[in-house]
Amino acid sequence: MIRLFVAIELPEHVRINLAALAGGIPGARWIEAQNMHLTLRFIGDIEEGLAHDIDLSLEAIEAPPFELRLEGIGYFGPARAARLVHVGVQRSNALNFLHDKIESAVVRAGLPPDERKFLPHVTLARLKDAPASRVADFVADHNLFRAGPIAVDHFTLFSSFHGRTGPIYRPERIYLLGNPLLPDGTTGLVEEDDVRG
Ligand code: 2AM
Repeated sequence: MIRLFVAIELPEHVRINLAALAGGIPGARWIEAQNMHLTLRFIGDIEEGLAHDIDLSLEAIEAPPFELRLEGIGYFGPARAARLVHVGVQRSNALNFLHDKIESAVVRAGLPPDERKFLPHVTLARLKDAPASRVADFVADHNLFRAGPIAVDHFTLFSSFHGRTGPIYRPERIYLLGNPLLPDGTTGLVEEDDVRG
């Protein structure tokens, strides 16, 4: 068995800025910069054979590169018992398109569909018994957070292991976004140099 998820990796400087937001909520488990990402699809524990089929299916995805912007702070769960605080992601058709392609690909490979709505976010901390007022203060204090544009030219299949001090996420496969090459080896796109002549 292997535990997998599909995510967008974030540049190191963005992850460092996100990790610097940590603090101020008692009982919060803050995510380390190296573990921050934008999850596109949680797959969970599966057999190696299915993992192989998922890899092939993800490999076949065709979607364009795009830019992401992170903005604002939110939480999941009821206001009195939030279970996670996160940075939001500016609405993006390209991101939703990629998510939908990945969802179809993993279902085609044999996974049950994800019934949950896709709510793009980057988790900052997981909470347990955090005082609601401190969560509200955290949101108010950091709500102007912005990052980006972040160029997204690939997505990644990660494995997840239990480490001694927390989960260890390892990139297993990278899938490039972009225009597939035509049979003549070109992208079919007009290069700027060609236009200038
Ligand atoms: P998150 O993005 O909300 O933090 C690896 O565990 C990644 O998969 C995490 O980023 C995590 O959530 C996401 N994920 C989604 N559903 C999950 C689940 N049921 N169990 C563990 N992780 C899950």
